[in-house]
Amino acid sequence: MKVNLPVTQRELKLPADATLLSTTDTQSRITYANGAFIQVSGFQREELMGQAHNLVRHPDMPPQAFADMWRTIKSGQPWTALVKNRRKNGDHYWVRANATAVRRNGELIGYMSVRTRASDLETAAAEKLYADLREGRMKGFEIDRGLLVRKGWLRWLSAFKLMTLAPRVAIGLALALVPVVGAALAAAAAGGALIAVPAAALVGFGLATWYFQAQIVGPSRRRSGRRFSSRAASRSSPTCSTGSTRSAC
Ligand SMILES: Cc1cc2nc3c(=O)[nH]c(=O)nc-3n(C[C@H](O)[C@H](O)[C@H](O)COP(=O)(O)O)c2cc1C
Repeated sequence: MKVNLPVTQRELKLPADATLLSTTDTQSRITYANGAFIQVSGFQREELMGQAHNLVRHPDMPPQAFADMWRTIKSGQPWTALVKNRRKNGDHYWVRANATAVRRNGELIGYMSVRTRASDLETAAAEKLYADLREGRMKGFEIDRGLLVRKGWLRWLSAFKLMTLAPRVAIGLALALVPVVGAALAAAAAGGALIAVPAAALVGFGLATWYFQAQIVGPSRRRSGRRFSSRAASRSSPTCSTGSTRSAC
């Protein structure tokens, strides 16, 4: 783990519309950085090109975060999380980083990260969470695909958070069908009263709408926006990205 020093703990706030982009080769050596990344980093372009990307690593970032990043992007999935980067003069800036593998004709040719500004609430929550991770106060939790999740036998509690879109949709459809099938069976058993079926269909539709809102629409909005909940930041407590408190992860 590279420790870049000194650090000042002075924060540079990024403009709301800032987009910091960098690409690397397969060995994580920087091959491209856009003007915004270079300017914010405080390095000259020549100082960045060809260097390992941990040149901008801030010592407050827990190793677990980058271990998760590499595991995730090497498995072909995108990784999104808050990252605190060190500037050349020791100051820092917070970003929401979206890292992914870059492939050409199916072959891995490098990696790319696009960073946008993180809000004050998000960074306050991440600062606390990363300190807890570094100092071993997060026993029973780990970072998986940028999300704080339970580990060990309690991992099932985080199942919904890690679930991909297909099973989420399948559960929603099943939820809609359960009352319909139930009502049809009950009507058949009672020898009539088929009016129960459309009524149950309505209930199923309502359930599915609620479920899709809670499991798909809401989380995708949060994913593109907030990574850590404001509730947690105001309590200064680490949270899951879905906005639940730590004990509910
Ligand atoms: C495309 C890409 C972008 C990266 N961006 C950053 C970054 O902004 N800050 C950072 O500390 N590490 C970044 N990394 C991860 C570093 O390569 C490295 O794993 C990390 O800084 C941890 O350093 P260490 O291996 O010395 O512990 C990036 C890696 C890739 C592939």
